[in-house]
Amino acid sequence: MSEPLQPHDELLNAFRMAMRHVASTVYAVTTGHGGGRYGILATAVSSLSFDPPSLLVCVNRSASLHGPLASAETFCVNVLGLGNRDVAEHFMASGADRFDVGEWEEEHGVPVLATAQSSFICRRVDCHDFGTHSIFIGELIAAKHRADATPLTYYDRHYIDISEAPERHA
Ligand SMILES: Cc1cc2nc3c(=O)[nH]c(=O)nc-3n(C[C@H](O)[C@H](O)[C@H](O)COP(=O)(O)O)c2cc1C
Repeated sequence: MSEPLQPHDELLNAFRMAMRHVASTVYAVTTGHGGGRYGILATAVSSLSFDPPSLLVCVNRSASLHGPLASAETFCVNVLGLGNRDVAEHFMASGADRFDVGEWEEEHGVPVLATAQSSFICRRVDCHDFGTHSIFIGELIAAKHRADATPLTYYDRHYIDISEAPERHA
């Protein structure tokens, strides 16, 4: 006999609770379009393939980044480090220009955070809509990495420093 289905609200709540407890790297996904700069804080980012080197980003269709990203040629996935916590907090502050805080430079027409742990500049090559979100696929055109950075991690609605976690190797 098959298991009874969870009611939709209960399922959504369980999904939210479970996802809240997935420790995630924090990214600032940015683009430039029509002379403007756009960006959101995101955790739904993943590497996709090595050949060609590519990434995917899931963006809510109601987010201010969505329209510009759907038309832009390039975008940047900035991997935030602990030292970029001010940028993460500023991105979530309403009203302010998101690029007021942080050392933002322009490369390939997109805002790149000079102090980020890593930056992946991508050419937008594909987009798939699913439910509330779109999956944007980007093929890498440039990447940089700072070996001295510690990742900024989001866990249970707080930023944490994973370098403080006890070292345990199974
Ligand atoms: C830690 C964190 C992770 C987030 N991850 C995503 C994400 O992966 N995709 C997304 O569309 N929005 C994500 N959001 C929400 C966006 O940052 C943003 O607030 C929302 O899309 C509304 O953007 P807008 O004010 O530019 O319209 C996240 C927010 C936080 C605080």
